Amino acid sequence: MKRTHYCSALRPEHIGTEVTLAGWVHRRRDHGGLVFIDLRDRTGLVQIVVSPETEGGTAGAHEVRSEFVLEVTGAVSKRPAGSENPNLATGAVEVRVKRLEVLNASKTPPFQIDEPGDVAEMLRLKYRYLDLRRPEIQQHFLLRHRLTTAVRSFLNAHGFLDIETPVLTKSTPEGARDYLVPSRVNPGQFFALPQSPQLFKQLLMVAGFDRYYQIVRCFRDEDLRADRQPEFTQIDIELSFIEREDVLVLMEEMIASLFKEIKGVELPRPFPRLSYADAMGRYGVDKPETRFGMELRDVSLLVSGTAFQVFRQTLDKGGMVKGLNASGQAGWSRKDLDDVTNEAKTFGAKGLAWLKVTASGVESPIAKFFDEATLASVVRALDGKPGDLLLFVADAPAMTNAVLGALRLSLGKRLGLIDKTRFNVLWVLDFPMLEYDAEEKRWVAMHHPFTAPMDEDLGTLDSDPGSVRAKAYDMVLNGEEIGGGSIRIHQQDVQSRVFSLLGIGKEEAEAKFGFLLEALQYGAPPHGGIAFGLDRLVMLLVGAESIRDVIAFPKTQKAICQMTNAPTPVDAKQLQELSIRIALPPKQNPEKSHG
Ligand code: AMO
Ligand code: AMP
Repeated sequence: MKRTHYCSALRPEHIGTEVTLAGWVHRRRDHGGLVFIDLRDRTGLVQIVVSPETEGGTAGAHEVRSEFVLEVTGAVSKRPAGSENPNLATGAVEVRVKRLEVLNASKTPPFQIDEPGDVAEMLRLKYRYLDLRRPEIQQHFLLRHRLTTAVRSFLNAHGFLDIETPVLTKSTPEGARDYLVPSRVNPGQFFALPQSPQLFKQLLMVAGFDRYYQIVRCFRDEDLRADRQPEFTQIDIELSFIEREDVLVLMEEMIASLFKEIKGVELPRPFPRLSYADAMGRYGVDKPETRFGMELRDVSLLVSGTAFQVFRQTLDKGGMVKGLNASGQAGWSRKDLDDVTNEAKTFGAKGLAWLKVTASGVESPIAKFFDEATLASVVRALDGKPGDLLLFVADAPAMTNAVLGALRLSLGKRLGLIDKTRFNVLWVLDFPMLEYDAEEKRWVAMHHPFTAPMDEDLGTLDSDPGSVRAKAYDMVLNGEEIGGGSIRIHQQDVQSRVFSLLGIGKEEAEAKFGFLLEALQYGAPPHGGIAFGLDRLVMLLVGAESIRDVIAFPKTQKAICQMTNAPTPVDAKQLQELSIRIALPPKQNPEKSHG
C-alpha cells in the first residue's frame, strides 16, 4: 500500500511533507491551468491541486469526473492567504500534486454525493453503495461501530461471555411471523429463523454459563414501520441468580456509560420508573415520550352525571372520558378543530369534543350539557387557563388511550414542544402478564410466554389471569422502546401452567417447547435478561428519522432489498430439490410492487 495518510489527517504541521493519498473525487473545479479537487475518503476531505508542475501536466485532471478513484502523491502546502476554508478540518492546507493516477473511473452517479439534497429513498437504496459514500451517512456507521465496541467492553468487563446461538432453528415466538427455511435433506420440513435467541439464552443459563451476551441478528416477518426492519440486531443479554432490581441497575449503568462515551451525555440515575398502568394513564401508551407534558387526565368521574349522550353512553358501557390540554391553542379556528377531529378519527376515535377556556368562561358546543360546577371541575382537572384548548375522547379504555396517546404525540411534534436536544430514558415496569385477544378469544402473552409472573400475583393466575402482573420491564428512550426483558420462569410446573393458560395444550407444548420443559427439570437456575434494539439505539443517538438510515443494506417498507431485488423466484430445479411446489392464490403474480 502506498497511502501514507487519510485525507482528513493533514494539518499545518504536515506542510513540506510528501504524502500519498487515495480517495474519491468529491468535487472538481477546473480553472484550466489549475485543477482543484476535493479528495474524499472515509475520514473526510482535503483539497488537492493539479498544476503544470504535475507529471504530465493538467491533462489527466481535465478527464477526471466526480467519484473517480485517484491516488495522488504530492507535498502538503499552506493555502495561499485568503483561500483557507475554516469549515474544513484540512482547510489551512492543500496538496500540490506531483503524480496523479486514476485507479478507476466512475459513471456519473444517479445522485450527487457531495450535497445532502432531497434524493428519493428508493433511488438511494438501489445505489446503496453510493448512498453510503455520503459523509453524513458514514457517520452513522462510525457511531454504530463505536457503540458496539463500547457495549462489548462493558459486558466483557462485567463477566459476560459472548456465545453464538443458531440461526437455523425452531420457532422462537416473540409475537411476529417466522421466516422459514426449507430443509433439502428433510423434505417437507422447515427451519425458522429466530425472532430472538430467547430460548437458547435461557438454555445457556441452564448450562451454567451464568452471564451471556450476543450482538445478534433477529428475524421477524411483520408489518414494517420507520422503527422496524424484518432483520434487525439485538444486544441480547441473560444472567443467572439475579432479581429484577439487579438487571435494572446493571443495565442503567451500561446505557449511562454508553451515552457518556458516545455522546458525552450524563444520564441522570436512577432512571425514572413508571408502572405500565401509570404510563397508559398519563400518556396513553406504554412507551411514553416524556420530553413534553400535555399529560392525559381521566375525567370520567367528574362528568358521570352528564346528560351529553356521547359521554353518558360510553360511561354506561364501561368506557372512559379522558382529555388533554393543548395549552395556549384556544385561538384555533373551526377548520383547525375539524382537522384535529379528523386526525383523531384516523387514530380510531369516533369523535373529538373540544372546550376553549377563555377569560369570560368556557366556549364549547357541548358546554350546554354540563352545569357550571362540572365545567369548572373539568377545566381544573386539566389545569386549564384562559387561552387553553381542551380536547376529550370518550371510548373504551384501550381506544381512548390509543387515540389520545397518538394525538398527544402529534400535537407535541406539531406545536414544537419536544426538546430535541434531550435524551429522556425511563423504565416501564409491572406489565400485565397477559392480554386478551378478543379476535382469537384467548389470552396471549404480552411479552413472551417465558416471562415470570409476579410472586404475589401467582395466586390469581387461574382465577383472574388479566390481573396478573409480569416481572417484565421495557426501557424507553424519547418515546421509543429500545429494550425489553424479564425475569424468566425457571420452574417446569409454572411454565406448563402458563402454556395451558395461553391455550397451548399439552401436546402442542411438548411439540413446540418440549426441549425447554425438559431442560427446566435439570437444575435450571433462576435467571432473567433483556434485549436492546441496537438499530433503534443508533437511530436515536444519531437523530435519524428512520431505522433504515443506520442499517447498511436495509429492506424497504415492503420487505424488499431494492438493490439486489431479493426476494426473487427460484429455479424449478431448486424447488424440486426442496420438494416444494408454489401455489399462488389466483390472480396474484410473483411480481413485486415496489414501494
Ligand atoms: P423484544 O421483542 O421486546 O424482546 O425485542 C427487544 C428489542 O428489540 C427491538 N426490536 C426491533 N428493532 C427493529 N426492528 C424490529 N422489527 C424489532 N423488533 C424488536 C426493540 C425491542 O425493545 N427475547 C426478548 C428479550 C428478552 O426478554 O430478553 C425480545 O426479543 O428495541
Ligand atoms: P354528536 O352528538 O355526534 O354531534 O357529537 C357532538 C360532539 O361530540 C362533536 O363535537 C363530536 O366530535 C364529539 N364526539 C362524538 N363522539 C365522541 C367521542 N366518542 N368522544 C369525544 N367526543 C365525541
